[in-house]
Amino acid sequence: WVLMVTAQTPTNIAVIKYWGKRDENLILPINDSISVTLDPAHLCTTTTVAVSPSFTQDRMWLNGKEISLSGGRYQSCLREIRSRATDVEDEKKGIRITKEDWQNLHLHIASYNNFPTAAGLASSAAGLACLVFSLAKLMNVKEDNSQLSAIARQGSGSACRSLFGGFVKWIMGKDESGSDSIAVQLADEKHWDELVILIAVVSSRQKETSSTSGMRETVETSPLVLHRAKEVVPKRIIEMEEAIQNRDFPAFARLSCSDSNQFHAVCLDTSPPIFYMNDTSHRIISCVEKWNRSEGTPQVAYTFDAGPNAVMIARNRKTAALLLQRLLFHFPPQSDVDINSYIVGDKSI
Ligand code: DP6
Repeated sequence: WVLMVTAQTPTNIAVIKYWGKRDENLILPINDSISVTLDPAHLCTTTTVAVSPSFTQDRMWLNGKEISLSGGRYQSCLREIRSRATDVEDEKKGIRITKEDWQNLHLHIASYNNFPTAAGLASSAAGLACLVFSLAKLMNVKEDNSQLSAIARQGSGSACRSLFGGFVKWIMGKDESGSDSIAVQLADEKHWDELVILIAVVSSRQKETSSTSGMRETVETSPLVLHRAKEVVPKRIIEMEEAIQNRDFPAFARLSCSDSNQFHAVCLDTSPPIFYMNDTSHRIISCVEKWNRSEGTPQVAYTFDAGPNAVMIARNRKTAALLLQRLLFHFPPQSDVDINSYIVGDKSI
């Protein structure tokens, strides 16, 4: 017999960024962060997990290609989930798996991203969140999504925020064990559903410095990052929560743009400096800033993760259409400017 579960998890985009760990193994951050979860139709991972007595080892395939599960992060997630497994019974199939059986049974995991991995868009957040969620369902883990987020966090920090839709806060926590470093939902996907996300895929190249090593170098060498984590982010988190509750777009846009810019300033403050944005990214920022200023009140927020791709959040559909028009005029795809494509989608899950 084979028992299977399939789950789908969207990716999330941080508007107050996580950058820097206080514990590398448990993946504990130096500040809180806030993100928006995307609509699963656009950027998501679908994962099927299967268990069978005929499987002789744990195996995983990503987009059809087998990958190694030996890495510490996968192993932590598998171990944590297995330790919480409970009895499972499928009467129709005549299957009964006890809590103890799970420790010896092997798993096969197949995961697909509905966007090209080559697009250079973060996939680890959706991937690890989906892995943890589908395994938890298969093994009848009784924990709620916040508790599961603490497991996904050990796969990749940003993954913990993908267990909820809408707006999500990752609370950094204080405990050394990481038990209070969890994600909570600030507002559900219906709360502010007129927002539209537009992503300009500026470069499909693999980033040179991974988030993991980039943030390690920042914490080791940047004098600015401590000021950011201790003085700036705590205030921004409070203001951002308020902006989200009140659907205050000007405040939301101001905070998102400033936080993205400070994150990249901290990368520049790292030694040697890390450059994630390129000339096209900078031109997109200027274009949005100019437009926002000419309108008198912000119409679009931008944010950039550890790469040159621009994530823009428009206040509504009409603004999104105008933004796309404007971008296509300034940056036609396949032109000398290296934008490959635009992805437009709803924020809500
Ligand atoms: C810039 O979650 O990819 O996207 O925890 O080492 O796996 P690890 O890093 P990761 O870092 C994401 C960094 C970011 C900001 C964010 O998502 O908050």
